[in-house]
Amino acid sequence: MAKEIVVSGVRPTGELHLGNYLGAIKQFVELQDKYKTFFFIADLHAITEPQDPKKLGRQILEVAALYLACGLDPKKTTLFIQSQISEHLELSHILGTLTPVGELNRMTQYKEKIQEGQPANFGLFAYPVLMAADILVYNADAVPVGEDQRQHLEFARTIARKFNSRYGKMFREPKALTQKTGARLMGLDDPSKKMSKSAKSPDNYIGLLDNSDEIRRKIRVAVTDSGREIKYDSDRKPAISNLLSIYSLIANFPIPELEKKYKDRGYAEFKKDLGEVLVQKLSSIQKQYRALAKNQQKIKKILEDGAKEARKTAGKTMSEVRRKIGFLG
Ligand code: TRP
Repeated sequence: MAKEIVVSGVRPTGELHLGNYLGAIKQFVELQDKYKTFFFIADLHAITEPQDPKKLGRQILEVAALYLACGLDPKKTTLFIQSQISEHLELSHILGTLTPVGELNRMTQYKEKIQEGQPANFGLFAYPVLMAADILVYNADAVPVGEDQRQHLEFARTIARKFNSRYGKMFREPKALTQKTGARLMGLDDPSKKMSKSAKSPDNYIGLLDNSDEIRRKIRVAVTDSGREIKYDSDRKPAISNLLSIYSLIANFPIPELEKKYKDRGYAEFKKDLGEVLVQKLSSIQKQYRALAKNQQKIKKILEDGAKEARKTAGKTMSEVRRKIGFLG
């Protein structure tokens, strides 16, 4: 049987952190063995918010290098830059003609961005339509999504259904691949909010490129809960639960085993060990990253090969779509 198809994109904005790694990248690396995977750098989505043209290119290559350093393997996965496949935009326009404006108006992410003060431009408004096109142009079976992108995936399913009923069966309705529990990391300085690089303090998150001393320090100063027991209880012990999740995901070690291991040992010792586990894992990623970053030509070549491969599938989809709609040629 042919492998199922998985598609996902990542916006090339700013520094990637541990939350991105444990919440998404690590999962991508696991998925590439089981599925036919298309992963892309969503530069078209990035410019729905202002970007510095002098920096964007570098950010794109940086994200690609980090994904490769984390274990994405160009032999197993198709890695490319979204804007290099014009079929995404072509399909986006077509799907737009099936999209009621009122539905986009109700999108949570759009409303939040406007409230944060982002200018309400048409690209930002149409963000979910382009995202649906990203997914459907490869006829994905499944999409790994975090909680914040769930509504957009639901939108993509609806629009696939609409296209099929108007023009005849064309798209599958992609299902959500949900993350393992605990994959949503919370801030180290405030476990009531998601770990985020836009947090006020850099002590909120661990950057994938933070140096070893910085990593140890951020874990050492991370907030803890009252008491001294190392126990997972997200209501009563949100901070320790978050640190347990991190430890468990990074070391591939079940939480109950960790609780056993640290029974009768204090927070300080637990944190010290966690710091070391993180340093070990991240310094190996950083080593790969530095080797790649020196060789920009190699990254560009991987992305070009990826684009060629992606274009094959996207092109096939679009000729069928054009035919179904009644376009000529
Ligand atoms: N909107 C996604 C995010 O912010 C990125 C993205 C763009 C995406 N296109 C996609 C994710 C298609 C999955 C599938 O995280």
